[in-house]
Amino acid sequence: MNITVKTRALADFDCKILLVGHFEDSKTPEGAAQLLDQKYHGLIGGLIEEGNFTGEIYSSSVVYTGESARSKRILIAGLGKKEDFDLERLRGVFSKAVQKIRDLNITNLAASLDFGGSEFPARETAQAAVEGAMLGLYRFTRYKTLKKDKETRIEELTIIENRPELLEDVRSGAETAEIISRAVYCARDLVSTPSNDMTPVILAERASDIAKEKNLKFEALDEAAMKELGMNALLGVARGSAEEAKLILLEYNGGKKDDRPVVLVGKGITFDSGGISIKPSEKMDEMKSDMSGGAAVIATIKAAAELKIPLNVVGIIPATENLPGGRAYKPGDVLETMSGLTIEIKNTDAEGRLILADALTFAGRYNPSAIIDIATLTGACVVALGDFITGMMGTDRDLKEKILCASDTTGETVWELPLWHEYEELIKSDVADMKNTGGRAGGTITAALLLKKFVNDYPWVHLDIAGPALLSKDKPYVPKGASGVGVRLLVQFLMDRSRASNANP
Ligand code: BES
Ligand code: MN
Ligand code: ZN
Repeated sequence: MNITVKTRALADFDCKILLVGHFEDSKTPEGAAQLLDQKYHGLIGGLIEEGNFTGEIYSSSVVYTGESARSKRILIAGLGKKEDFDLERLRGVFSKAVQKIRDLNITNLAASLDFGGSEFPARETAQAAVEGAMLGLYRFTRYKTLKKDKETRIEELTIIENRPELLEDVRSGAETAEIISRAVYCARDLVSTPSNDMTPVILAERASDIAKEKNLKFEALDEAAMKELGMNALLGVARGSAEEAKLILLEYNGGKKDDRPVVLVGKGITFDSGGISIKPSEKMDEMKSDMSGGAAVIATIKAAAELKIPLNVVGIIPATENLPGGRAYKPGDVLETMSGLTIEIKNTDAEGRLILADALTFAGRYNPSAIIDIATLTGACVVALGDFITGMMGTDRDLKEKILCASDTTGETVWELPLWHEYEELIKSDVADMKNTGGRAGGTITAALLLKKFVNDYPWVHLDIAGPALLSKDKPYVPKGASGVGVRLLVQFLMDRSRASNANP
């Protein structure tokens, strides 16, 4: 979809359909809807007056202008009640509206962001609208050989801004949205791709492609190099699989040479069968998504580079399969991590924390200003917070607050769980420094407590995305399947951080 911003009288613009909004509690059309209503002699007002369109959130109505040439139709989108309106709702409204337009087989539209009396800044409004539209239109069609060419694609979205003083802000918001949404697409594509076509080696190749395009530093350590480093926890997990494991390293240097980087660590289990502690076969297919954290990190760095965020950012993605092959690691085994700490394996399905342990130790080599890891780590997090919410734990109050702030801005819901030290008791081992599971109770917290042992004193936050990484039903602007969760959150976090560090150098 091609996105442009133009200043023009909406009604004079040549396109297949015009998109305007209407608040539920307004008796008459406002903003752009009012302008069109005047031009078309009460066409929209009549609909509202007769009670045929209420403005209920996500509802919409198509009216015909009677024009023979341009803008034959108008889609009025319900914005809900004015007092409930925010940018998260706007994302949903734009998503639903363009989905409907696509269902009508219409391939181009023009939209106005003048709703009459919304108090949100033009730049953020444009960003939210374009993000909603793009994210809602995502489809994963790589493996659909039938009817693929018959599917409607919206080719052109034009934002019409008739207030010239807002034009620059609207343009910049739309551009930011496009970059971020494409990064989310990138993460969704990586996650949606089944594990037979998304092995650790292929994931590393995708990261390398992005690095070449964006001029990033890239390296993928192979098993021999990891052996050399003593990454025996990561290699232990990898032993059950015939696929070569990789430690993927991506570096974007947008900051000053000596600026300490933000290090992002993403779990990259390209398929999690559970290993010898094998999972039930029902829903095991969903475990192709166990590299969602890694995908989010790769996509975030891609966006950071395109947005030219003035920070240094490193991505570390430990990538392997977790399979029960003949050489697989087994319950009772003890693995020595890169840090020297030893871990007794109680359950081979608690593999994420093992590969992250070594990756977090490796992160220390960059002397980071902050470490954020993101992982589909525990089913317990889904029990605690449900399918849509990311669990957060960490050692640094300020860093956690910044993540919550990015959560508010982006609508990617994050909730903090306590990193309660008393639960460390639960991962004590009789034979090693710790064991890799702490039982069912507090499973998200004990997993995070294990990770904490590998981050030293760096400010650190852990994000558990086991719930929201793969959705089994649609959200307003997230079609079911791979959600790309974390990308918008992390990009927002980086943008906020770069602004704050420029403000007080
Ligand atoms: N990848 C899973 C966690 C997961 C579960 C992600 C459901 C998304 C949806 C992880 O490797 C795992 O299997 N965790 C175990 C840990 C347990 C054995 C301590 C779990 O949550 O059951
Ligand atoms: Mn597992
Ligand atoms: Zn896993």
